[in-house]
Amino acid sequence: TRPAILIARDVFPEVVERLQAHFDVETTAPGVTRTAQELAQSLQGKVGVMTTGGERIDATLLAACPQLKIAANIAVGYNNFDLEAMTASGVLGTNTPDVLTETTADFGFALMMATARRMTESEHFLRAGLWKQWSLDLFAGAEVHGSTLGILGMGRIGQGIARRGAHGFGMKVIYHNRSRLDAATEGACGARYVGMEELLAQADHLVLVLPYSPAVHHIIGATEIAKMKPTATLTNIARGGIVDDAALALALRERRIAAAGLDVFEGEPAVHPDLLTVPNVVLTPHIASATLKTRMAMAMLAADNLIAYLTEGRALTPLNPQVIPG
Ligand code: GLV
Ligand code: GLV
Repeated sequence: TRPAILIARDVFPEVVERLQAHFDVETTAPGVTRTAQELAQSLQGKVGVMTTGGERIDATLLAACPQLKIAANIAVGYNNFDLEAMTASGVLGTNTPDVLTETTADFGFALMMATARRMTESEHFLRAGLWKQWSLDLFAGAEVHGSTLGILGMGRIGQGIARRGAHGFGMKVIYHNRSRLDAATEGACGARYVGMEELLAQADHLVLVLPYSPAVHHIIGATEIAKMKPTATLTNIARGGIVDDAALALALRERRIAAAGLDVFEGEPAVHPDLLTVPNVVLTPHIASATLKTRMAMAMLAADNLIAYLTEGRALTPLNPQVIPG
């Protein structure tokens, strides 16, 4: 009999077909999500699972699913994996780096621009039939070209955003990261390394692109926001929990910064109610990598990881390669 796997969220039929050539596949209907208990139940007898950020693979689940060998995440971020627990259980985790880098950088830049230029706030005004109230400063926003772009988290996506700003929009680009890039990489993306304090104080537009870990929980809170320019914008395409959403909502209401653009939220798909009532925020439902081409490439890479590991004992983009039997 063929190995059995679960696709924990509805994916493209092409991806299901590719997997069905190798495995007995349990699929998931559109819109269906599982509780942790339901996920453990569906994983009985399965050796592989294809997940999204919505499914947690942790010690409790692993203890209930001793046959599991691999979880293939359709995302570059993997904070839904307890990688330490997976490694301890000999379960491989994989993610989808690289295939989404440029698409996600496009969106980060677009969200920053929409935030600076007040695009959703002004659309609401137009739809409400208020355009008669024209004035010279109607929805006058913040300049993008020539301004200072600050990037917190300078991985592949951060570098893509830096290149767009430096080379496309003549922006001065500064960044902060756990480790400094080499001079050649800094040069290629036109970015200068600064400390966290300088990043906060100098950025006209601050974009967050760092991976989530408990160490960066609420790394942007009331204290950090207070160090930003009152005219600055804040864009988060990284992960919920990196920003203290309650503190941000209050700062936006009190205009301590000009505006924010958020694609990720603490506890999503729930959104802090205060963020829904402040006008100077652009809100999107975690879609930074969402073009059809890129979402297909991500799901296919996750499928190829499942196939490579379960049929040949190797993986394309392993997170904990030490569990691969050598
Ligand atoms: C999306 O947030 C991802 O991690 O790919
Ligand atoms: C993700 O690929 C990143 O390194 O930013």
